[in-house]
Amino acid sequence: MNEDSKLQHINLSDDEILALLESGSQKAAEFQQLMAYYHCAMMEIETKFKVLDHAFSLQHDRKPISAIKTRIKSLKSIWEKLQRRHNSITLHAMEENINDVAGVRVVCSFPEDVYLLADALLSQDDITLIEKKDYIAAPKPNGYRSLHLIVAVPIFLAHEKRMMKVEIQLRTIAMDFWAELEHQLRYKKDVVFTEEMAKELHDCAEISAALDHRMETLRRTVSGCIT
Ligand code: GTP
Ligand code: MG
Repeated sequence: MNEDSKLQHINLSDDEILALLESGSQKAAEFQQLMAYYHCAMMEIETKFKVLDHAFSLQHDRKPISAIKTRIKSLKSIWEKLQRRHNSITLHAMEENINDVAGVRVVCSFPEDVYLLADALLSQDDITLIEKKDYIAAPKPNGYRSLHLIVAVPIFLAHEKRMMKVEIQLRTIAMDFWAELEHQLRYKKDVVFTEEMAKELHDCAEISAALDHRMETLRRTVSGCIT
């Protein structure tokens, strides 16, 4: 599916649209339009990272980005989050309070690439930083590591410029590997997650952080050995 046809098919089921309409006064068309704007903002950010990756690879002969993953939050998840936070169920409340409707995850080669890419993005004059959480410098108690940014990026429409929020998660391959598996294990149905399991997961996070550190040291050694 190309990018244009993706825009026209933001997969909303009838039930999802109805759920929004029943509790709010907004029209489905307005919702579809707003989701299309989020989609555009997500593409803007993805492109910015692709450009940074390309520019860096021309200069340094290696790519700092291993993969970029994008997703738009489902209406069900938006709905649940608004309810959990006791926000009203309106498009306005969604735009004001839900920062991760559009999400971009950048999986980097080495830990230093995370900061290099974040700094490069944030220095661009059309990007506004709204929030930064550095779970690499200060990992979550369960061992989770990533750098989270909430930014606003302009999208240019036929007659207006609109600022849209995007959540960006930057992490290394090792951090991504751990986070994906932790998510799978923790949300397994009908399983009680014991303290031993949590400790084992935490140990795995420490091992992957140590691995990141060793790989980065090795990269520096290799770079220093260029003939
Ligand atoms: P949310 O309501 O979940 O968005 O939390 P928050 O607003 O406090 O944001 P935070 O920056 O802590 O987390 C945002 C996102 O990061 C989550 O939706 C997950 O995608 C990811 N994340 C945060 N903590 C964890 C974790 O412990 N494990 C995994 N696998 N992902 C996490
Ligand atoms: Mg979230």
